[in-house]
Amino acid sequence: MVVNLPASPLRRRNCFLILGFALFAPFCFFVLFSVPDVNSEQVLIQRLAELQIKLQYLDSVYRIRQEDLQKLTEYMDVISSSQTNSSATSLNPNADLKPDIKQLVRNMSGLNAANGVNPPVMLRFPSSYYFLPHLLDDPLSLRLAYLLSRGRTGVSLVMGLPTVKREKQNYLMDTLQNLIEGMNPSEANDTLIVVFVAETDLKYVLQVAREIEIRHPIHVESGLIEVIAPSHSYYPNLDKLRITLGDSRERVRWRSKQNLDFAFLMSYCQSKGTFYVQLEDDILAVPRYVTEMKNFALDKTAKKEPWFVLDFCQLGFIGKMFKSAELPWLISFFQMFYNDKPVDWLLDHLLYTKICNYEKNNDICKKEKAKLWIHYKPSLFQHVGTHSSLKGKMQRLKDKQFGKVALFFPHSNPEADVTSSIKHYKQYTLKRAYLGETFFWGLLPQPDDQLTFTFSSPIHVKRFHFRSGNADHPADKFYNTTVEVLPLLMPKNITKSSTNVTTDGFVIVGKFDHVGIASGVVDEMFGKIKAVRLHVHSDSENWAILSEIHIREESR
Ligand SMILES: *[C@@H]1O[C@H](CO)[C@@H](O)[C@H](O)[C@H]1NC(C)=O
Ligand SMILES: *[C@@H]1O[C@H](CO)[C@@H](O)[C@H](O)[C@H]1NC(C)=O
Ligand SMILES: *[C@@H]1O[C@H](CO)[C@@H](O)[C@H](O)[C@H]1NC(C)=O
Ligand SMILES: *[C@@H]1O[C@H](CO)[C@@H](O)[C@H](O)[C@H]1NC(C)=O
Ligand SMILES: *[C@@H]1O[C@H](CO)[C@@H](O)[C@H](O)[C@H]1NC(C)=O
Ligand SMILES: *[C@@H]1O[C@H](CO)[C@@H](O)[C@H](O)[C@H]1NC(C)=O
Repeated sequence: MVVNLPASPLRRRNCFLILGFALFAPFCFFVLFSVPDVNSEQVLIQRLAELQIKLQYLDSVYRIRQEDLQKLTEYMDVISSSQTNSSATSLNPNADLKPDIKQLVRNMSGLNAANGVNPPVMLRFPSSYYFLPHLLDDPLSLRLAYLLSRGRTGVSLVMGLPTVKREKQNYLMDTLQNLIEGMNPSEANDTLIVVFVAETDLKYVLQVAREIEIRHPIHVESGLIEVIAPSHSYYPNLDKLRITLGDSRERVRWRSKQNLDFAFLMSYCQSKGTFYVQLEDDILAVPRYVTEMKNFALDKTAKKEPWFVLDFCQLGFIGKMFKSAELPWLISFFQMFYNDKPVDWLLDHLLYTKICNYEKNNDICKKEKAKLWIHYKPSLFQHVGTHSSLKGKMQRLKDKQFGKVALFFPHSNPEADVTSSIKHYKQYTLKRAYLGETFFWGLLPQPDDQLTFTFSSPIHVKRFHFRSGNADHPADKFYNTTVEVLPLLMPKNITKSSTNVTTDGFVIVGKFDHVGIASGVVDEMFGKIKAVRLHVHSDSENWAILSEIHIREESR
């Protein structure tokens, strides 16, 4: 059996590129001839850069298909030559040689050396399995254990957000909320956020996915957010890793797993969009960060400045952008050395290996590296977590380049007398917070602590909005705390024994959710309100910040 493949992989690839140009070229000409002024020229240059990078990305996606084809061809070749003896090379290994070579071979007849042309021996390169042999123990080791996805692909920006179970505070939900709030609709349309739950406890994975969908139903539905998790057999036995760099077993385990996590996440994301940005689950982003990153990358491309990493945060591996087409460099490198070095060192080593001249001094090397690893200032991302996912490791690193974010949200509130049973810290009093001058910062709340706003004269309250915690101290929220109002006259049909009425005559109208926000309306039936208060029911491990207070009076 002779296998006839439709076209050689190379020819196919060329066809593909030509097709790409055929699709894009008319568009380019259209833009060229319709926009003569300088500003639009810049837009055009950016647009061209975008197309250029997109083509690179599509090419890399195509290369994966091409690889499959190559494997298939080899496989069929093996089958055909083993089943029948009709394969061209096995019948007559010299069939397709050039005439002069044929003549040479003929002149050597009688010698063993004449039989060495076109041997049926194929070279085999080591694959990832060589570095991660445990993957071979289970045929499904590379299969996802969990996937929540609408199949979005072909976007400009893919953001990889790995998350693990943390013993103390978990910021994932705050981080996601912040990332989404920082996008406008068209940015959200051209972006994909992949949350990688790097845990093999499926119960936990489901819990995270469920919470994400409940919190962001629209964005899960639109395909902006995906959730994935690896199978149990993706990881080697993490208790049997080599101890390297003289680190503790716990640390070696943590950093080795992080390497494998990044390799997994990057591999999944590679085919989804043009650029890839590595994030973490305890960060804050400045608004419009998506467009800032994209424009910076396109600007470099348009100016034909080569780059490998665009760095939007000075810390660790946060906010590092790569071209998706170049992710295989990182993935393979992480797989080779996952047990040897932390992930941020590996990135540095990779760059070093790529461009530094061993014989020249270190300053030159630094300069060379800085050309491919470009820092963007000010930073677009900030670290908020103080508890790193490595148990006990306090993560106090903050990026000094990060611009100021609002720590409180001022509003003008109805005139009121303000009291707090929680002791305030320094100048962060409740009174000043109520006036919109700063936030309130109180020491460890205890059960039955109360923050009370008593109006100078009773008013009709329409809405209330309280936000606890802030960017610097996201864990300093109000937990298990209700919002209560004291009506001037209790409606007749509500009795003291009602479930929502406290013994001292306040009516519960809301409570802080686990993001630390309490927001709601006060039913008209309560009429005029004498006071609003926050009522704490449990003690807290954290201090409490009130970063937004807004009580809106019914305008009548
Ligand atoms: C292929 O050819 C060899 C020698 O020419 C012969 O020994 C062998 O049986 C053949 N195999 C098949 C499957 O026909
Ligand atoms: C092959 O051998 C013949 C006779 O020995 C010689 O004339 C001819 O040049 C040789 N051909 C090559 C390609 O070496
Ligand atoms: C989102 O993308 C789709 C398809 O690319 C497009 O039809 C739609 O208009 C976009 N929406 C926004 C808000 O940009
Ligand atoms: C009490 O009466 C008001 C009208 O005065 C009505 O809107 C409200 O639903 C009633 N509430 C209860 C708990 O019956
Ligand atoms: C108590 O409050 C809850 C939620 O605020 C509400 O669903 C419920 O109807 C209230 N019950 C009464 C008796 O007002
Ligand atoms: C809130 O506090 C009350 C009273 O101490 C307690 O019964 C309840 O379990 C607490 N709820 C949560 C979610 O901690």
